[in-house]
Formats: sequence, structure tokens, C-alpha cells
Amino acid sequence: MLVDRFARRFTYLRLSLTESCNFRCDYCLPDGPDCSSRKEELTLPEIRRLVTAFAQLGTRKVRLTGGEPCLRKDLLEVIQTVKAIPGIEEVAITTNGYRLQRDIEDWRAAGVDAINVSVDSLDPSTFHLITGQNRLPSILDGIDQAIAAGIPKVKVNSVLLKGYNGSALPEFLEFIRQRKVSLRFIELMRTNDNVGYYQRHHISGDTIKQQLLGEGWQQCQKGPTAGPAQEFAHPDYQGKLGLIMPYSRDFCDDCNRLRVSSRGQLFLCLFTEQHQNLRDHLQSDDTQPLQAALQQMVLAKKATHFLHEQQSGSTRHLAMIGG
Ligand code: GTP
Ligand code: 5AD
Ligand code: SF4
Repeated sequence: MLVDRFARRFTYLRLSLTESCNFRCDYCLPDGPDCSSRKEELTLPEIRRLVTAFAQLGTRKVRLTGGEPCLRKDLLEVIQTVKAIPGIEEVAITTNGYRLQRDIEDWRAAGVDAINVSVDSLDPSTFHLITGQNRLPSILDGIDQAIAAGIPKVKVNSVLLKGYNGSALPEFLEFIRQRKVSLRFIELMRTNDNVGYYQRHHISGDTIKQQLLGEGWQQCQKGPTAGPAQEFAHPDYQGKLGLIMPYSRDFCDDCNRLRVSSRGQLFLCLFTEQHQNLRDHLQSDDTQPLQAALQQMVLAKKATHFLHEQQSGSTRHLAMIGG
């Protein structure tokens, strides 16, 4: 088992496959990532060894993130490899939706159980302004195809942005009236790269929460393996609405996740510069040394991200470690 000093158990690995992304969301990567990182990406055998060691230590869920995971040419093999590792019960992907319409059936056949798609606006021109991409209709169609393909969990992420989507709750609610998806508003997080943007566009999720409670939405009970979202349901809606509020005080108390970057570095928290290079341990099929190293490393995990105390998270942008 991977357990830290605060008795938190880590059963969920978020593995970034690449720092590259083909979108330019202005809160994340307005200028694009450093492309030299591509040749440093973990190889398929390294991924197999890494996830095997995590699974032997109790990891049951792996989320493939990025950058944009579909930019990895061997994505299908990665999915199949991870899914086949004993102990792994769920393989999830977080994507910008670029290849969803074309590839969702293949991803499903390869073993994907859950998919999170980023859609910051349902208005095509606002979507274009935020992401630099003009593909909203194909992404929305891809989401419907994912539901039709029988993906058990389909979620949609919208980063809450003053001036862009802060007053678009009615449109988002309409979107989930007849769709079995969980739509989550994420409070914009301050990173090293987006300080000015954060000051202009950050809004708290609390106002949305009050609106929902005032309109008959009920807060759902959190399951033992639930993620960071507070979810709300309403009898007239097939979908659910969630809020991810990392600035709230108890956000980290039930943290269940660890992150590995596409370069094979372990990050104990989304907001820490501190990381450990795992690559040396990934060159042999003997996972014992890696298991021992991971059990030791996890003891250094701090109680929280301390974003309440310091102004900014030290992470440069979330594409580095997959959000
Ligand atoms: P699932 O429960 O597996 O659906 O995971 P998720 O909601 O964490 O997945 P997703 O990749 O869609 O993450 C959405 C966003 O929530 C992330 O990109 C972050 O912005 C935020 N988030 C997720 N986990 C954490 C966390 O541990 N800490 C912080 N501060 N934010 C997180
Ligand atoms: N704050 C909040 N969410 C962010 N994401 C990327 N950068 C930030 C940020 N600074 C979101 C993406 C995607 C998810 C993986 O993380 O929009 O939905
Ligand atoms: Fe865990 Fe860090 Fe996220 Fe808090 S911010 S929930 S400690 S990863």
C-alpha cells in the first residue's frame, strides 16, 4: 500500500503521456509547451513497469492525461498495456476532445472506462477565444458518441472564467438536462504562468453552489473513492453538476492521487515543484526497487497544497503534470 503520514491512501495514479498540446487555452498554455520534452517521454515498456509497480502497491485507477494524450502515436497500445496490468480496474482519459469523434470507439475497444473532456464554453466563438480552436461542434458530437459507445463515466470540465462563462450556468444546465454526463466547474488555479490572467478571471464556485441550492439541486453524498468534485443532482436532469474548489479549506483531506509526469517524475501534489525522477527504476522488470522507493517518497507528501497561505502554486502550468 502507498500511505502517507496523514493516513491518506493512494489508489489513483494520474499519468501524463506528453506535455504537448494542440490547443492554446489561455489560462494554461498560451505560448505552447517546450517541444523538446517529446523525446523525453516515457516509453511503452517504462509505462508498463511504472504502472505494474503502482498496481502492486494498491493503485486501482489510472488516468491518462497530458498535455493532450491523443498526441501520443501509441495511445491505443498504452491503453491496452495499462488495462492489462493485474490490479488495474479503471483506465480513464482526460482529453481536450480533439480526436474524440474519430477515435472514441477505438479507445473504448482498447479498454477505456472513463473519459473527461474539457469544454470551457458552449458558445463556439467564446470557445475559440479561450482555446484557439474552432472545433466545438465536433467535440460536442464526440461527447455524445462517447455516451452512445457505452463509456460508463463521461465527464465534462469547464474552468470557471469571469467574463467568459461565469454567467453561463443556464446554458450548461440545459446541456445536462438530457445527457448522462457529470459537468464540473473547476475554479481557475493560479500557476506560475497565469498570474495576471488569474487576477482578471478567477471566480469562486460558491456563487454557483448557492444558485444550484436555490433551484432545487441536492448535494450528493461522496463515495469513499470519489474525486475532488462536490456533486449536485436534480430530478429533472439526467446529468449531474460538480464543483471543484481547490481553494476550499478541506480540499486535500481525502487526497487519493499521485502524479507522474511524461518525463517519469513523481509529483506528490499538483502544486509542488518538488519531484523525484523515477526513470532509473524503470529500466528493469524487477519492480521491487521502485516499490520501495515509492513507499519512501510518499512519506514526504505535505498535508495540503498551502494555496491558501501562499499566493501562487509553484507549478508552471498544469499541462506539465496533467492537472
Ligand atoms: P476523476 O474523479 O477521476 O474524474 O478525476 P478528476 O476530476 O480529478 O479529473 P480531471 O482530470 O478531469 O481533473 C479535473 C481538474 O480538477 C484537474 O485538472 C485539476 O484542475 C483539478 N484537480 C483534480 N485533482 C486535483 C488535485 O488533486 N488537486 C487540485 N488542486 N486540483 C485537482
Ligand atoms: N486552473 C484550473 N483548471 C485548469 N485546467 C488546466 N489549467 C487549469 C488551471 N490553471 C483544466 C483543464 C482541464 C483539466 C485537466 O484541467 O481545462 O479540464
Ligand atoms: Fe492532493 Fe495536492 Fe490536489 Fe491537495 S492539491 S488534493 S494535496 S494533489
